[in-house]
Amino acid sequence: MSGSALFETFTRAPLAFDHGEGTWLVTDKGERYLDFGGGVAVNSLGHSHPRLVSALTEQAAKVWHVSNLYEIPGQSRLGERLADATFADKVFFTNSGAEALECAIKTARRYHFVKGHPERFRIITFEGAFHGRTLATIAAGGQYKYLEGFGPKVEGFDQVGFDDIDAAEKAITSETAAILIEPVQGEGGIRPVPTQSLKRLRQLCEQHGLLLIFDEVQCGIGRTGKLFAHEWAGVTPDIMAVAKGIGGGFPMGACLATDEAAVGMTAGVHGTTFGGNPLAMAVGNAVLDVVLEDGFLEDVQRKALLLKQGLASVADEFPDIIEDIRGTGLMLGLKCAAPNTKVNMALRDQHLLAVPAGDNVLRLLPPLTVTDAEIHEALDRIRAGARGLADAIAAAAAK
Ligand SMILES: Cc1ncc(COP(=O)(O)O)c(C=O)c1O
Repeated sequence: MSGSALFETFTRAPLAFDHGEGTWLVTDKGERYLDFGGGVAVNSLGHSHPRLVSALTEQAAKVWHVSNLYEIPGQSRLGERLADATFADKVFFTNSGAEALECAIKTARRYHFVKGHPERFRIITFEGAFHGRTLATIAAGGQYKYLEGFGPKVEGFDQVGFDDIDAAEKAITSETAAILIEPVQGEGGIRPVPTQSLKRLRQLCEQHGLLLIFDEVQCGIGRTGKLFAHEWAGVTPDIMAVAKGIGGGFPMGACLATDEAAVGMTAGVHGTTFGGNPLAMAVGNAVLDVVLEDGFLEDVQRKALLLKQGLASVADEFPDIIEDIRGTGLMLGLKCAAPNTKVNMALRDQHLLAVPAGDNVLRLLPPLTVTDAEIHEALDRIRAGARGLADAIAAAAAK
């Protein structure tokens, strides 16, 4: 017994935050932390954004929940806005990223089913992927550490190497329904998929009658400086999963699809109790209000460049700590030379929060509303953290 009543599934830092203001989190002891983790790419507009607070509290005073047995005007509105802003015609709202992926997987399988091909249910995925923690999404992610001990892996996922498009082509059979990919891998270590590869995947899907599914749960909603990361490549999917940033901290997700891809998702075949509830929809609409404002995404791109250039110079200064800077927009990764957990601790000692990822990467996912001054402050803290760790490693080696 650890003394906690909670499942031991998380290794938590010994920090409890009392409140947040923009890019800052303040502990119960009054200590201020610069939040460049953003609740793992969730706090797209920072903490306590006044527009989100008023959207939520205004809705809270009206009605919280009615169920999907009734019309939810905020849901219709957000659905239309997402469709207007993207490739999609149809949207299904969920509470989380994994549920958005479940809906995407089911949508792809149902498509082939109603087209008379129930045998086409397999989905090709890529090494290093992360799609969530439900039984189907751990099978899609294919990572042994998440699958171990949970019984037989859900059938129907074929994994190939990261960015190995030749292998993806070879993996296509008469049972393949779709290809599922994160345009920028998040948990896998901030690994952007080259534009050319996304284009080839689109072509393969056309050639073989497959559906292309993008998982933009982490890289979507302005994170890369476009509303969705795939816009950089000029390639559109048939189905897309979204979550995290769209709720700005309120739990919500969405599965978007073209009319054609969603053809099998007819009345009664899928559902949710909480998905698309009025509170979530009020916040989602308010997030879009801000992110779609003129100049907002251009400003994200400008700030991202400032941060990336600053990080590159810290990496040059401390090559034994930071090997390389990866990523795009405000979705950046420090490819660490020292263990990423140690670099994370060194930054936390400087009261800067980041998030470890695979491939020995430390993620920086600040709110899209981060200011230039906060970027400079973060760079100072990262430099100080790297220096402290470099000194500690040198002192240990000298012993
Ligand atoms: C790319 C991606 N897909 C899916 C998920 C799962 O989302 P959730 O934890 O909200 O279920 C995550 C979460 O980190 C993610 O990064």
